[in-house]
Amino acid sequence: MEGPRSADRQLGSQRSGAGEHPRAVRSFVTRAGRITAAQERALVSLWPTYGVEPTGMLDLDALFGRTAPRSVEIGFGNGENLLALAARHPERDYLGIEVHRPGVGRLLLSLGARGLKNVRLICRDTVEVLEQHLPPACLDEILVLFPDPWPKKRHHKRRLIQGPFVSVLAAHLACGGTVHLATDWGPYAEEMLVALTAEPLLRNVAPQGGFVPRPPERPQTRFERRGERLGHRVWDLAFTRIDQSQGLALR
Ligand SMILES: C[S@@+](CC[C@H](N)C(=O)[O-])C[C@H]1O[C@@H](n2cnc3c(N)ncnc32)[C@H](O)[C@@H]1O
Repeated sequence: MEGPRSADRQLGSQRSGAGEHPRAVRSFVTRAGRITAAQERALVSLWPTYGVEPTGMLDLDALFGRTAPRSVEIGFGNGENLLALAARHPERDYLGIEVHRPGVGRLLLSLGARGLKNVRLICRDTVEVLEQHLPPACLDEILVLFPDPWPKKRHHKRRLIQGPFVSVLAAHLACGGTVHLATDWGPYAEEMLVALTAEPLLRNVAPQGGFVPRPPERPQTRFERRGERLGHRVWDLAFTRIDQSQGLALR
């Protein structure tokens, strides 16, 4: 069975699939990266169990074989957070989206070793996945932890969390669902706060409208540890999806 193909090969065009806004610039560059033999093997042998290669709109109940609260983690890196959450919450389903094959391979190895049944992985650009393959309001939780900060000014356009994508995130949350973000890059944290606050379908969980305390249940990710070593502070954000009519009333 063939493993996941690289995101670059899957995306023929640089325009986002739904055509609602041009995605001329992606939030990632495809790195060959070092991949171990075990990760390569996992990408072949475990992909049929955990991997998803969507063609049309996904039916998540059919995919997971049940109806359950659903979380998506976007850009899960090496998957530590996703693995810990899925092991801790067998009553929930977790969909991971990541373009970096070594990270996917690493998480597959851990999933195989633990035999977890409530996780599925997609190895593609999350913009394509949300716009083309996930129905509206199908998620109870979206996690975007330490997205690439693209600190150089000329790269800011690559940042994932920008207005149009925030609207896509909001549209995929069920009412009362939550999007959690974290970053160790101050200017990006401020930009996220502005973009999320501007989205009429989202409401800040922080009563004063700023950042939230670090959720104690959030396992430390690889990039969070890296930031800590560099002496960086971490900013957490949490916004809930409100009812559409409430959103319109607030406009
Ligand atoms: C800075 S790393 C953080 C990884 C992990 N969340 C952590 O905290 O350790 C950002 C990750 O997002 C992934 N990524 C960036 N843009 C993406 C996209 N459009 N779709 C899927 N994954 C993406 C990258 O491949 C990378 O692994």
